Amino acid sequence: MEYDEFKKIVTENGQGHLVKLYERLDDAKRKKLLDQVSRIDFNKIDYLYSLTKEKKEFNNVNIKPIDACDANNLSDEEKARLRAIGIEAIQQGKLAVVMMAGGQGTRLGHSGPKGTFDFGLESHKSIFEVFADKFKDAEKEFGVIVPWYIMTSRENVRDTITFFLEHNYFDYEDGIRTFFSQNELPMLDENGKLIISEDGLVKEAANGHGGVFDALVSNMVLDQLKSMGIEWIFTCGVDNVLAKLVDPLLLGYAIDNNYKATSVSCIKDYPEEKVGVLCYKDDKPSVVEYTELTDDLKYAKKESGELLFSESHIMMNLFSTSVIEDISKKELPYHVAHKKCDIIDEEGNVIKPDKPNAYKFETFIFDAFERLPKLGVLRYKREECFAPIKNAEGADSPETARKLYKAYYNL
Ligand code: UD1
Repeated sequence: MEYDEFKKIVTENGQGHLVKLYERLDDAKRKKLLDQVSRIDFNKIDYLYSLTKEKKEFNNVNIKPIDACDANNLSDEEKARLRAIGIEAIQQGKLAVVMMAGGQGTRLGHSGPKGTFDFGLESHKSIFEVFADKFKDAEKEFGVIVPWYIMTSRENVRDTITFFLEHNYFDYEDGIRTFFSQNELPMLDENGKLIISEDGLVKEAANGHGGVFDALVSNMVLDQLKSMGIEWIFTCGVDNVLAKLVDPLLLGYAIDNNYKATSVSCIKDYPEEKVGVLCYKDDKPSVVEYTELTDDLKYAKKESGELLFSESHIMMNLFSTSVIEDISKKELPYHVAHKKCDIIDEEGNVIKPDKPNAYKFETFIFDAFERLPKLGVLRYKREECFAPIKNAEGADSPETARKLYKAYYNL
């Protein structure tokens, strides 16, 4: 894009402050800014800003609990039957794992990618190494190298790859196929203006874990997976050290029931726990986020006294490759987050806000469930599958995850 075109476009779209910014940049940065602006879809920016004015209303949505299959209530014979189906598919090379590691781990206070975090085991293994161990265990058990794909963000891709290189890919180099980056969206201020970050360019942020679908397509990973004969893709976050990455029971359960998507769940620990809950929204499989669950629903109980909405969504989902392809064809809805963000004003001064001043736009992986006719839900006990590391201290911290991890592996 040339300067004249840039000036015209940004001015017409109410982003004239970028022209002033341009004047202050050196040649290399000017080139980068022109390149950034040429990629911005200004109609989409208007649409995203309009979302910040919308108030989300759940009153008119009919929310119902969803049924789950409790793995611990299956008979030994049934478990063995389902596992055998899953093992066959794994051994035929039909499963790949896509780990979503593009988040920033701000709450944890760790400066590098979350997967590089040492959560205090005596061995000082990082989260990534703990996951590599799981793949190597599966290789021993099933005789197959399950491909491991890692989705990063532009911000952490370099540090993630460097970490794997420094650790010789944790001796799983044949399994680690690709690091691919999710896409980004510009951030806006409260007046809908593109935010300028301290490097003098338009501030962009990762587009949420729902971005995994278009990232798989735009990075040609889905094509690669299909050409390898992969029929099932297990997606999970990077922050749960008890995630079952290669799980024949889950795969067997999905194949046997013809579920094109299956979510792994565990029962919520307490009503206020910060997890989304699986449910039906207007008869479509869905997740209600913890921030959106009204008190009526949060504390509602069954006759048995158990919580009515307790099927936690723990970011462990199995999709068929064909479903991922379908989902990627249509954008997921955007969610708006109001954040604090250092910005540069038109005069070049850095403004450090003391309250949220910026909007970030994200899509969520679980919004894809609403597009599916049915969703399988396989429930495990929490101590078997969920030890998240989210906060530096307290709930979901390195300390709680370490305890759960050590108990599970008898360390
Ligand atoms: C998330 C889920 C919640 C679920 C909980 C389980 C949301 C909105 N909610 O909450 O339903 O019960 O996890 O632990 O996500 N990530 C990316 N790219 C992004 C954003 C996130 O790869 O742009 C990854 C993170 O690296 C992480 C995972 O997605 O591995 C979860 O993201 P996070 O933002 O930590 O979600 P939570 O708010 O903890």
